[in-house]
Amino acid sequence: MDVRADVCTGVQEGQYVRFYSASTPHPGSASNSGSARRPGRTLKLGAVLFGVGGPGQHTTWLDPDIPTNASVDVRWYIARAQQAEAAKFDHVFIVDSQFITPDSPHHYLSRLEPLTLLSAIAVHTHHIGLVGTITTSYNEPFNVARRLASLDHISGGRAGWNVVTSGDAGTAGNYGRDEHYDYATRYGRALEHVRVVQGLWDSYESDAFPRDRARGEFFDRTRQHTLDHRGEYFGVVGPLNLERTPQGQPVIFQAGDSEEGRDLGASIAEAIFTHAPSLAQAQEFRREMRARAAAKGRDPEHVLIVPGISPVIADTDAEARAKDDAARGGRSFERALANSAVRSAGTTSPATTWTPPSRTWATPARAASAPTPSRSRRWPASATSPCAKSSSTSWTPSARRSSVPR
Ligand SMILES: Cc1cc2nc3c(=O)[nH]c(=O)nc-3n(C[C@H](O)[C@H](O)[C@H](O)COP(=O)(O)O)c2cc1C
Repeated sequence: MDVRADVCTGVQEGQYVRFYSASTPHPGSASNSGSARRPGRTLKLGAVLFGVGGPGQHTTWLDPDIPTNASVDVRWYIARAQQAEAAKFDHVFIVDSQFITPDSPHHYLSRLEPLTLLSAIAVHTHHIGLVGTITTSYNEPFNVARRLASLDHISGGRAGWNVVTSGDAGTAGNYGRDEHYDYATRYGRALEHVRVVQGLWDSYESDAFPRDRARGEFFDRTRQHTLDHRGEYFGVVGPLNLERTPQGQPVIFQAGDSEEGRDLGASIAEAIFTHAPSLAQAQEFRREMRARAAAKGRDPEHVLIVPGISPVIADTDAEARAKDDAARGGRSFERALANSAVRSAGTTSPATTWTPPSRTWATPARAASAPTPSRSRRWPASATSPCAKSSSTSWTPSARRSSVPR
C-alpha cells in the first residue's frame, strides 16, 4: 500500500470492528471456515486517495515517488486502487469539496470529480468498494440517486456514498447562493435528501425487467414504483430511470462531528468517519454513536465507526518518525508556522482544515499483531466488475423503505 494514502480503519474497545453483524458473517470469515477464530473479528480498511497532498500534506507533491499530476491522472488512481484491492482493502475513498482558494491543499486545487473517477476505477478493479463524497447541500436527490446507482451497476455492486453537507461557506458562491445554509438547514436537507435518494433506489423491484422476447414482455409495470415525495426541502415524483442495482441500496458513509452531524450519522450511516485523535476518544465516539443509533431504533451492530489515520511505514520506529518529519518538512518552527498559516488561510471550516492524525509504527511489529483483513459483505468477492463474467452478489435487496424522513 502506498504510504501516502491515508488509511481508514476501525477500532472498537481495543478490538477491531466489523462491517456486519455476528449473525451475518463474511462468507470467507473464520465463522464460516470453522477455524478457531472468533466470528466477525475482521479488520476493515479503506484507503483515502489524496494525490499530491490533502490537508496538512504540504510537501507530498515534492515526493519523487508521486507524479506531480497524480490528482488528475486517472492511471495513478487506478494503480492505487488495484494495489489496495490486492492488499485486501475494503474500499477506496474519494474526498471532495467544491470551493477553493489559492491556499487550498495541493490536491484540492485541481482534482477529478469523485463519481466520474470511481466509474473509471470500477472497470479496472473487481472487488474493492468505491466510496465517493457527494454533498447534499448542492445537489438534487434525483441526480445523486442516478449517479450512484449508475456506479453500482458499472461496478457490479460496489458503490458507496460519503454523505457530506459542505462545511465551506464559500461553496454557496459557486451555486448562485448568497449564503451557505445554516447547520439546521444543512442537516435537515441532508436527512431528507438521503431518504429521497434511498426511496428512488427502490423505484424498481429486482424482477421488474423480465426482458422476455418469447413472451414479448420487456418490463413488468407492477414492479415499478413512483415515489411521490413532497417534503420540507424536496419534491420528487420519481421513479428513477434506472433499474434496481446489484446492491439495491449502495452503502451510506457519513462524517460529521457537530450535534447535527452526529444525529444524521446515527440516522442514516452504515459507516461513520471520525478523526478521533486517540483510541480512548474513538471508543467514546463509538459508544455515543451506537447509543444514538439504538435510540433511533437501529441495530448498533449495523453502524461501523471508521477512524482516519495516516500511517507512516518503515522498518523501525525511529525510521518511521524520521520519514514523517521529512514529509512534514522537518521540525522547523518556521515551517510549522507556515503550514499552520496555510491551513487557517484556506478556510475556517472543519471540512477543509481537517488533518488526518498521523500514526507511526514499525512495519514488522504491526504486521505481526494485525488480524487478516477481509472484504465486506456488500462488496463480496463474488461482486464483479464488467471486466469479469458474472455479476452476482450475495446481498438480498432491503425491504422497501418509506420516503418519509425520520
Ligand atoms: C474522515 C473524514 C472525511 C471527510 N471528508 C469530507 C469530504 O470529502 N468533503 C467534505 O465536505 N467534508 C468532509 N468531511 C467533513 C465532514 O463532512 C464534516 O463537515 C466535518 O466533520 C464537520 O462536521 P460538522 O459538519 O458536523 O460540523 C470529512 C470528515 C472526516 C472526519
